[in-house]
Amino acid sequence: MIKNRIPGDMGKYALREISRNKTTTFISSFLLIASGFLDAIGLSLIVPTVNVLVLEDGYSSKGQFVSIIKNAFDILGIPYSLKFFLLAIAAIMLIRSMFIMMQISYSGIIRANYILNMRIKYLDKLKKSSWRYLKSQSQSKLLNITTLEIQRSGTCFLNLQQAIASIGTLIIYLGFLFLISTKMTLFAILSAIFLSLIFSVLLKIARKIGEKEGRAGDSFFKKFTESISLSKYLRAHGKDGIMEDEIHSSLKNLRSIHVKSGVNDAVFLATYEYAFIGFISLGLLIGSQYLNLDGSQLALISLVFYRLFQKTKTAQQHLQFMSKNIPATKYVEEEINNIEKNFQVWGDKEFDIINKSIEFNDLMLKWDGKVILKKVNLKIKPGTINLFLGPSGEGKTTLIDCAAGIIKPESGSVKFDNNDISDFSEKSFKSKISYVDQNATLLNESIINNIKWGSDHISKSEIYKISKDLNIHDKIKSLKNGYNTNVGDRGINLSGGERQRIIITRSLIRKPSILILDEAINQLDSKSKVPILDVLSKLKGKMTIFIISHSDDAIEISDNIFEVSQHSLKRLRKDTNWKNYFKL
Ligand SMILES: Nc1ncnc2c1ncn2[C@@H]1O[C@H](COP(=O)(O)OP(=O)(O)OP(=O)(O)O)[C@@H](O)[C@H]1O
Ligand SMILES: [Mg+2]
Repeated sequence: MIKNRIPGDMGKYALREISRNKTTTFISSFLLIASGFLDAIGLSLIVPTVNVLVLEDGYSSKGQFVSIIKNAFDILGIPYSLKFFLLAIAAIMLIRSMFIMMQISYSGIIRANYILNMRIKYLDKLKKSSWRYLKSQSQSKLLNITTLEIQRSGTCFLNLQQAIASIGTLIIYLGFLFLISTKMTLFAILSAIFLSLIFSVLLKIARKIGEKEGRAGDSFFKKFTESISLSKYLRAHGKDGIMEDEIHSSLKNLRSIHVKSGVNDAVFLATYEYAFIGFISLGLLIGSQYLNLDGSQLALISLVFYRLFQKTKTAQQHLQFMSKNIPATKYVEEEINNIEKNFQVWGDKEFDIINKSIEFNDLMLKWDGKVILKKVNLKIKPGTINLFLGPSGEGKTTLIDCAAGIIKPESGSVKFDNNDISDFSEKSFKSKISYVDQNATLLNESIINNIKWGSDHISKSEIYKISKDLNIHDKIKSLKNGYNTNVGDRGINLSGGERQRIIITRSLIRKPSILILDEAINQLDSKSKVPILDVLSKLKGKMTIFIISHSDDAIEISDNIFEVSQHSLKRLRKDTNWKNYFKL
């Protein structure tokens, strides 16, 4: 859940983003401002056009404006006639349309790039985050941030670019108006400021709506992903209704936020239109009654006013959208900054075959300040099978995670042939580890793709050999599509035991130096476990195997047996009375 969101500070946000993205801002603004400039030139030709149409000599005017245009025509050697005015207007407006097209396309690119960069940055930081941090995050939150919230951040950035470009264009139009009438320019500036002040109320409302939208998105994703993970439980207990109600209510909440947002936009647009009519009428009244402007100037002023208000509206509208989406940017940035870095450091030594020993020296590990393991010492020979027993929740997985370099212990060291784990390069170390996690699942892909995942160079015959040894090959072949059968989400179309054997096949084809099996065969019946235990015992000497188990199945093939309990590690003798131990 989102707590303590920092309210978006538009000014600071704008300055920061402009300074970070100078080129983008420049190009985007240039394209729009250039189109505004061309528009202003095109519009200026309205005056001589009107003059030619309504005045007998086609020239006389009260202001200086027409003489400026006439001079410009003379300098360029273009005849001062209706035909050329119309041709010039058509040519200028055509170029202007091209600038507008480029600007809109560029805006799309800006947004897409921003979203891509932010997503990559987020995913990259997640990749480098500590396992503790990643474990503390909910899937739904990560999903909401990567999809909706980052998309909203991209829109926010785009709105900022559009707002800046619109303000730039606004200045061009004001400059143009200044050439026609200084006083009307003053009037336009004052009315634009007045309008902005009035509409700042809507900006604040938009920001509140934007904050709520982020929270509602989080809540929807949470409920939805949980309902999928728990679908079997919910169905079995006839409780789908609870989740359905919760999902519907979060969807209704989202709907109501979207409605509010729509109404806020509608109020904005409608009021702006109304204000526009008021200001243009007032402007024309002032122009004709008090400033004595003639018909052609008034016609031009109406057009410039129209454009000015259009641009003020666009600028304001972009600020409005920006205000709505700033909370998303703030949220994503806070999340990115809060990602805890992985404390496990790595070196550059190549990790390959372990020759002499694997050691844990005085390991101490805490979760949330609570000691889980302390004074854990162990020394084993490579190529052995090592079994870890012990009550649930005592720290078996946590201990093995330290050996696998997933968790960095608070103190103590993990050593391979007297080299600290941190001396090795992460890539070489991890390429030599196969870890079958307690909660291992499959990809929603074919069996073959699941087995080959990350080891594309492996041949089919190698895969078949291992799966035959693990007694799963015939089963796979008997499926309608054989190895090309899709296993469904998390492998749901297979039985638990089939899933586990496919996962073990995947681990073995990598030919690791260290194989970790955390409750990896607990879903198999005793008979089906036999071929797997056989395969493992044949691997002795080729790799070091760590098995975590709650049963006595692997005792016979193990060289060392340890018990993790009461925060420490104790070696158990092989001739322990196992019936007694397991209370069989
Ligand atoms: N992310 C976490 N935050 C807080 N405590 C945690 C976290 N992960 C594990 N723990 C706690 O650490 C202890 C050891 O957990 P671990 O998973 O290592 O136990 P285990 O011996 O593998 O148990 P099991 O046999 O049930 O798999 C447990 O009490 C667990 O609640
Ligand atoms: Mg465990």
